[in-house]
Amino acid sequence: MQGPWDAIVIGAGAAGLMCAITAGRHGRRVLLLDHANKVGKKILMSGGGRCNFTNTGTTPANYLSANPHYCKSALARYAPQDFIDLVDRHRIAWHEKELGQLFCDDSSKQIVRMLLDECEAAGVRVETGCPIEEVRHHGDHFRLHTAQGPCAAPALVVATGGLSIPSMGASGFGYTLARQFGHEVLPTRAGLVPLTLSGKHHERLQDLAGVALPVEARCNGARFSNQLLVTHRGVSGPAILQISSYWQPGDDLRLDLLPGRDVLAWLQAQQRERPAAELKTVLGEVMPRRFAQRLCEIWLPSRPLRQYPDAELRPVAALLQAWPLIASGSEGYRTAEVTLGGVDTDQLSSSTMMSRRVEGLYFIGEVVDVTGWLGGYNFQWAWASGHAAGLAL
Ligand code: FDA
Repeated sequence: MQGPWDAIVIGAGAAGLMCAITAGRHGRRVLLLDHANKVGKKILMSGGGRCNFTNTGTTPANYLSANPHYCKSALARYAPQDFIDLVDRHRIAWHEKELGQLFCDDSSKQIVRMLLDECEAAGVRVETGCPIEEVRHHGDHFRLHTAQGPCAAPALVVATGGLSIPSMGASGFGYTLARQFGHEVLPTRAGLVPLTLSGKHHERLQDLAGVALPVEARCNGARFSNQLLVTHRGVSGPAILQISSYWQPGDDLRLDLLPGRDVLAWLQAQQRERPAAELKTVLGEVMPRRFAQRLCEIWLPSRPLRQYPDAELRPVAALLQAWPLIASGSEGYRTAEVTLGGVDTDQLSSSTMMSRRVEGLYFIGEVVDVTGWLGGYNFQWAWASGHAAGLAL
């Protein structure tokens, strides 16, 4: 891997590939290294094999970070439309699924192919199956010892991603490097992840595995309206994945089980129109019947509606709109889509992603403490932060 190189990028995922392409296109000699046997494994498995490659509604408000302003500059300089233009230039057909989420019509392999073609056109040297044994900073160069020999460059970009899905090549190497160079790493935890239930909370729902219903999930000031899916170990579905990034054990997590409905007014109308109908019957008409039945076995009394005085109907409505979900934990990094926390943005430049401590050292993508919502936002951050660093190299 003899250079000379202007920059070495560690991690050939979404962020590292975009960074290498951008720098290569601007005449930099770039070496892109990955310990995995192929590039972009998470891109390949993303979006159910169709890669939700961006979200047209991306704004900084769609990201969690100790510094919510950090992502603004990079996102402003590389917009969803910039990536769409790239996809269009490569004639990859795509469609919007919902809520601004763009997917390939065919396969996420097309996105990886496109990025590799761009690397080739930009003169980027890509080396896979290349574990990095040591990184040193001598004088004005970073010197790496790798399984494929030594290499050196005046700039080093860390794009090693987060901890989710270790079987796909995820490692904590980026955090180790950050600490080695004096950077703080904020505590990490799994995000966009199914939640688990235990004890009686688990017993009450486990036989409903497979039942799905629309809910509004609320926790710590965040709220998401989407589907909930009961699983064998707890709950999942987009509403739960989204809210999981805002939840920690012990936090109050509430579900509106009839989102978008004035439940008290609706129950009062039902009471007037069908006083003999039981609560579980009317609920079973607006949510999965088995779920309504279970609610009425455990949390709500089910009687003919005429037997509810107003003072009893109100708490029924209140519970349906703020049903407490007592989760015990999450499925963890094994199934999480992302890792919250990571390299503290305080010591990074938001315009170039470069370290304020070590000249020439950059951190991009998921390894940084910037985590997007579900729906294409995480790739958009990877593209945008990779692009920002690539321009600065
Ligand atoms: P990424 O993880 O992509 O790449 C890091 C690279 O570094 C990997 O190639 C890895 O092998 C390499 N690496 C790690 N340690 C190393 C070491 N020690 N030495 C050398 N190389 C090393 N997002 C989205 O926007 N839309 C979607 O549809 C999905 N879908 C999705 C599905 C699933 C199952 C998961 C797990 C995740 C998603 N995501 C997603 C999230 C998205 O995949 C993620 O945020 C980005 O891939 C992050 O890009 P990075 O380049 O930062 O890391």
